[in-house]
Amino acid sequence: ATARKRPPVIWLHGQECTGPSETLLRSEQPSLETLILDLISLEYHQTLDAGAGHIVEEQKRASMEANKGKYLLVIEGSIPTADNGIYCKIGGQTMLDATLEAAEHAAAIVAFGSCASWGGVPSAGPNPTGATGAPGVLKDKTVVTIPGCPPNPANFLGTVLYFVTYGKLPPLDSQGRPKWAYGRLIHENCYRRPHFDAGRFATQFGDEGHKKGWCLYKLGCKGPETYNNCPSLEFNNLGGGVWPIGVGHPCFGCSEGGVGFNKPLFSLA
Ligand code: SF4
Ligand code: F3S
Repeated sequence: ATARKRPPVIWLHGQECTGPSETLLRSEQPSLETLILDLISLEYHQTLDAGAGHIVEEQKRASMEANKGKYLLVIEGSIPTADNGIYCKIGGQTMLDATLEAAEHAAAIVAFGSCASWGGVPSAGPNPTGATGAPGVLKDKTVVTIPGCPPNPANFLGTVLYFVTYGKLPPLDSQGRPKWAYGRLIHENCYRRPHFDAGRFATQFGDEGHKKGWCLYKLGCKGPETYNNCPSLEFNNLGGGVWPIGVGHPCFGCSEGGVGFNKPLFSLA
């Protein structure tokens, strides 16, 4: 049998903490090694590349030229748009220009993490850099968003491997989120939900209700407004309740622009 060519991936970093790449480094199904050695061809990634400087910038351009219309573009981090984007530059080019350039001939575009999806922490008011998510910059393109702070690597891998396997994107919601991962509210699948329904709430961290694992709504839980699959998937295949509510902290709506620690900033104006 002829080996299938691994799909090329160009990966850009803007304003962020590298949380999405960090979360991917800890994935086990598949592991990062399987992903980048067997399933995709990672052509350019600013934090995983062994090379640096003008050599990798030239490699990026050569790959985008050779793979026109065939590469997957992953964007991690928000994109500063104020003052022509001067607040984030890579190899002398603004992140804004790098995003527009790479998006032009991409087969598909994935915004990984809340910053890339809707601005995230860098877009917090007063947002002097005009940080915005990829959908706000690439208004005429379909941008798949995988929000979360950090995002769940399984949501990213499931989406990318769907694209690699079927050659098309999975069904998306109105914000570009894959429905298979973001189709339900946290509150719908949360295992503290019986306590919510019965009116049993923790009212202070460390109180009786908190120790007993009761509902965290009165501590500010945003689960009723946040779409994500954290309760059923948890994080990094660890099981054992490894996700915010599982360890006794309210959901703060990390994956939902306008609900959690920030508001969506899609405007370039
Ligand atoms: Fe809903 Fe949050 Fe209570 Fe879970 S902890 S039942 S998501 S309000
Ligand atoms: Fe984020 Fe809430 Fe899940 S804070 S990780 S969406 S439980």
